[in-house]
Amino acid sequence: MVVVAGRTTEPFGTQSSGPRLQPPQARMPAGDRPRTPTIRAPGSSQSRTATARTILRTKSFTIRYGNFSAVRNVTLDIPEKRVTAVIGPSGCGKSTLLRAFNRMNDFIPSMTVAGNAYYLNQDIHDPKTDPVELRRRIGMVFQKPNPFPKSIFRNVAWGAAINGYRGNIEELVEQSLKQAALWDEVKDKLDDSAFALSGGQQQRLCIARAIALQPEVLLMDEPCSALDPIATARIEDLIDQLKTRYTVALVTHNMQQAARVSDRTAFMYMGELIEVDATERLFTHPQDPRTQDYITGRFG
Ligand SMILES: Nc1ncnc2c1ncn2[C@@H]1O[C@H](COP(=O)(O)OP(=O)(O)O)[C@@H](O)[C@H]1O
Ligand SMILES: [Mg+2]
Repeated sequence: MVVVAGRTTEPFGTQSSGPRLQPPQARMPAGDRPRTPTIRAPGSSQSRTATARTILRTKSFTIRYGNFSAVRNVTLDIPEKRVTAVIGPSGCGKSTLLRAFNRMNDFIPSMTVAGNAYYLNQDIHDPKTDPVELRRRIGMVFQKPNPFPKSIFRNVAWGAAINGYRGNIEELVEQSLKQAALWDEVKDKLDDSAFALSGGQQQRLCIARAIALQPEVLLMDEPCSALDPIATARIEDLIDQLKTRYTVALVTHNMQQAARVSDRTAFMYMGELIEVDATERLFTHPQDPRTQDYITGRFG
């Protein structure tokens, strides 16, 4: 019997201070919004349409570290329930841009922004936006798998436990692990330490942990860079499945990976968004000579 109790180590505060973000499907008055997530498959209530709506958007968006503009004047739409890849040479601002979407750059004191980034109609950097709530809607998976020093079960149950989830936690954990394509490998050892898993399994566990918060968007920053080719292939397959339910924004320096898994690709160079297009078109008919040079391996 697995018991979920107490608070676990958590990367962010859990106190919501500002107004809570409105979930896209349910716009209720603030006081009526439930504190706890319900088990709901994000993709279940709406069908996939040919033209996806935009879920994340930036408009003339600049991110500076001190005086240095790491992201410059970027205007980008990220469609819902698609995989958008962000590619470009090291240091071009991919991670900085990705981290802005769930305010992870807030932890860097010298960071300032200009212009706007939106989650649906909510200005992400508006003082009234609650970053804790934002991070529940927009989850993140990092380069190196970072499970907590806890059991497999507790890793996945973590967010629900700290949010006072009143549903069936066993069920939530099982569903999240299934969606992360890890259930079959761990179902008989849920109480084992997460550290006993392989790197690829740990990364899928981190994806399950993010999914258990029932987000709309998953930000993935080079999620395969620490993995071997077989584990990488599994994560790529998983990303392909995840887009039926979630929007995925994937940073990768691996062009083949972008070509394999993404629907749209954005090419960044020295902080600027050079072009964004349907992945196949960007790789076969790039509009900008810099994109052409990059995808043909002339630099980067
Ligand atoms: N915390 C930071 N403080 C200062 N400069 C940073 C910080 N993080 C990244 N940078 C700089 O911002 C630029 C973009 O970095 P990053 O977003 O990590 O690029 P990428 O993910 O494309 O490799 C780089 O020049 C990098 O050195
Ligand atoms: Mg990076």
